[in-house]
Amino acid sequence: MPSSPSSAHITWYRLNMTNKSKNYQIACIPADGIGPEVISAAVDVLKVLTDTLKTFSLEFTDLTWGSDHYKKHGRYIPEGGVESLKQYDAILFGSVGAPDVPDHISLWGLLLAMRGPMQLYANVRPVRSFPGTRAYLTSMTKPIDWMIVRENSEGEYAGQGGRSHLRQPWETATEVAIFTRVGIERIMKFAFEMARSRPAKLLTVVTKSNSMRNGMVLWDEIAAEVSKDFPDVIWDKMLVDAMTVRMVTNPHSLDTVLGTNLHMDIISDLAAALAGSIGIAPSSNLDPTRKNPSIFEPVHGSAFDITGKGVANPVAAIWSAAELLKWIGEAEAADILMASVERVCSKGVVTADLGGQYNTKEVTAAICEDIKENK
Ligand code: NAI
Ligand code: MG
Repeated sequence: MPSSPSSAHITWYRLNMTNKSKNYQIACIPADGIGPEVISAAVDVLKVLTDTLKTFSLEFTDLTWGSDHYKKHGRYIPEGGVESLKQYDAILFGSVGAPDVPDHISLWGLLLAMRGPMQLYANVRPVRSFPGTRAYLTSMTKPIDWMIVRENSEGEYAGQGGRSHLRQPWETATEVAIFTRVGIERIMKFAFEMARSRPAKLLTVVTKSNSMRNGMVLWDEIAAEVSKDFPDVIWDKMLVDAMTVRMVTNPHSLDTVLGTNLHMDIISDLAAALAGSIGIAPSSNLDPTRKNPSIFEPVHGSAFDITGKGVANPVAAIWSAAELLKWIGEAEAADILMASVERVCSKGVVTADLGGQYNTKEVTAAICEDIKENK
């Protein structure tokens, strides 16, 4: 099984870090559904980690933004809320979405309302087979280790479009994808850097430039331009439909993968399922310029079907917390944390989504114990 994220990758994160103090301010936005259950697990683990290592400290501030706040006050984020996030070093986010609020209202009211103004344009989703998780594919002869990079600020999720002729038989809705040279270039450079930092030095750029003949062709052109600055990175391009086939039939031919907001939203869920469960999939919403704090969150949503039952897999949130540590400059602590998570999973201490019999609190407690035992 693969060990924790490659040291080369961590080195690159280290080079980009700006931390000066060893006391970091972390905002927690657990929000809705299983969000509070998994964020509380991640915070418990982080507290044990810092108490055990004693090399740095984390101060947590809970922000009660979410669908309850919306139902009471008519908005997800209080006035000036996004601006106030600048005082934190990083943000740990749960999930947003409630059964009695339309999903587009909740997503745009909270998560997208932060991602946009803070220009968190790089969504990074590491995907690895975990010990103790089952592989669905017979083609998976060895563990997978992918790094999915999703353009996170424009494309199909730019919010452009509108509705006309409401409730007429000819009611019309448009959803306009926008692709800018600035937006594509910055994410392309980020993905090439990411690929360069990993041992395989392999990047696959995913588009749909056969049928989408404008924005996707611009993506292809910029990929070719930017690649000239990265002669040491091998790169290829795939159409998104063919990409799904390659992920299933030839998973080991992939390493770093880049694509648009919509395409990678879907591809990364498929990747998470192939790796074992959405319950272990982490993500980072990064501002690579570091002008704004980045947001770290599990890929999964509110999971209404298991909310309040105490059975949610906390690994996605805990792995997201490890990604947060790497980003603020505490890569060694992130390694120690992930080694504990892997040891606990390999012992079969896993939740039901991974075929186990343990609940959220038991898995969290096992990870905390492992950190203390192996310090
Ligand atoms: P979902 O990820 O909430 O659930 C999909 C399936 O995966 C469910 O069967 C759920 O029980 C399972 N699952 C998810 N996380 C799990 C975990 N940690 N442990 C064990 N099983 C887990 O996706 P769905 O059902 O499409 O969306 C539910 C709500 O969440 C909607 O309101 C949606 O808009 C929102 N959502 C929010 C996201 C975010 O805040 N970033 C991302 C995805 C969905
Ligand atoms: Mg998704």
